[in-house]
Amino acid sequence: MGEGKISRRDLLRLAGAGGAGLTLGAGGYAAIRSAGNEAAGFSPGSTTVPFFGENQAGIATTQQEHMHFAALGLITEDVSEVRNLFRAWSEAGARMAEGEPAGDENYSQFLPPEDTGEAFGLHPANLTLTFGLGPSFFQKDGEDRFGIAKIVPEALAPLPPLTGDVLDEARSDGDLCVQACADDPQVAFHAVRNLVRIARGLAVVRWSQLGFGRTASTSMAQSTPRNLMGLKDGTNNIKAEDRDLMDRFVWVPDGEGPSWMAGGTYLVARRIRMLIEVWDRVSLAEQETSIGRHKYSGAPIGRDNEFDPVNLEAQGENGEPLIAEDAHVRLARQNSEERILRRGYSFTDGFDAERGQLDAGLFFIAFQRDPQGQFVPLQQRLAANDRLNEYIRHTASALFAIPPGAREGGYVGERLFERI
Ligand code: HEM
Repeated sequence: MGEGKISRRDLLRLAGAGGAGLTLGAGGYAAIRSAGNEAAGFSPGSTTVPFFGENQAGIATTQQEHMHFAALGLITEDVSEVRNLFRAWSEAGARMAEGEPAGDENYSQFLPPEDTGEAFGLHPANLTLTFGLGPSFFQKDGEDRFGIAKIVPEALAPLPPLTGDVLDEARSDGDLCVQACADDPQVAFHAVRNLVRIARGLAVVRWSQLGFGRTASTSMAQSTPRNLMGLKDGTNNIKAEDRDLMDRFVWVPDGEGPSWMAGGTYLVARRIRMLIEVWDRVSLAEQETSIGRHKYSGAPIGRDNEFDPVNLEAQGENGEPLIAEDAHVRLARQNSEERILRRGYSFTDGFDAERGQLDAGLFFIAFQRDPQGQFVPLQQRLAANDRLNEYIRHTASALFAIPPGAREGGYVGERLFERI
């Protein structure tokens, strides 16, 4: 931690020590700050993820337990203001990832504080912030918004209409996105809130989604979580330690598309509502057939252990395939070129007041280097035949280009904005 910066955990320590507390008069923050500086050597420890790096954090990062995702619409037409916004976001993002307040403390009784305060005293909780640009950032209502249509990646073409979609436009798309992931929900919320505050006058939130409980594992060191259908989810996901698969399927290589995207990736988000009441009424056998795996062990049908290989040829005594023709797992692994990094979260937005049913499901997030060649054909196949379709509805959709990471002292999107 740099000299003169006070971490949220310093505040906790000081408050806990009966020191300054948080109800401070004029000069109170200064008192905390100077005392905090005395705590030299105090470090947030292993619970931070560096903001800066070759790729943005929150993709290959071991998946955290909570998420707050926000999509924003620009209200400024001045691209230099958007550049400044990405600078300010990166600066605040790097501070918050270290467990520091979003901005320099101010001591004025007459101005709002630079940090909203609800994360004071909380651990950094592996906070990651991932920033993205949607197709409408470049082209809106057919207009080349900032005169940069020639450097829009082909891979960012809007997703085509997909069979079965019942999309709520008010919860779809967006010019910009922020994905905040952390092991503490209040830390993720705080980060998005402060970034939105920084964007005031330039961009407004169009929709946002809170996610609790990861529905994938992205590291070999993690156990597989369960989604809200009670199924182990993420067993055969790409794991970040597998650099070959990450390079082949997730990161955009040099020379593919515009140079500002090299080292970046594309994020597809789908709000998938589960028809939980229907699912809860069907037999265990039907649930397992739908997915192609046993519910409790997560093993492929007919096998005992979660990580036993999936054999699509295996037949039961009656000659029928053990994994049904329309099972989710069978359809999801038809083409080895379509692999994706899944990094979604369970969500609930309470009840559907009209029907009195749970409004809950999977906020699906996938990273891939080419959504048109990976997510789209994969989802088309699932949408056409997946037995799981009886129990789910895709209710919102969004696509964002995720630029590469920022170098220390730089900002996310720098290579794009320096060309404008
Ligand atoms: C609510 C909706 C969904 C549920 C409940 C669900 C659940 C599951 C489960 C339980 C597995 C097996 C364990 C695993 O390997 O992770 C799985 C595998 C998989 N799912 Fe989904 N999934 C959903 C939506 C999707 C969507 C929208 C896609 C992509 C378009 C997708 C792509 C995959 C892939 C690629 C696999 C791995 C298949 C393999 O290689 O074995 N899933 N899903």
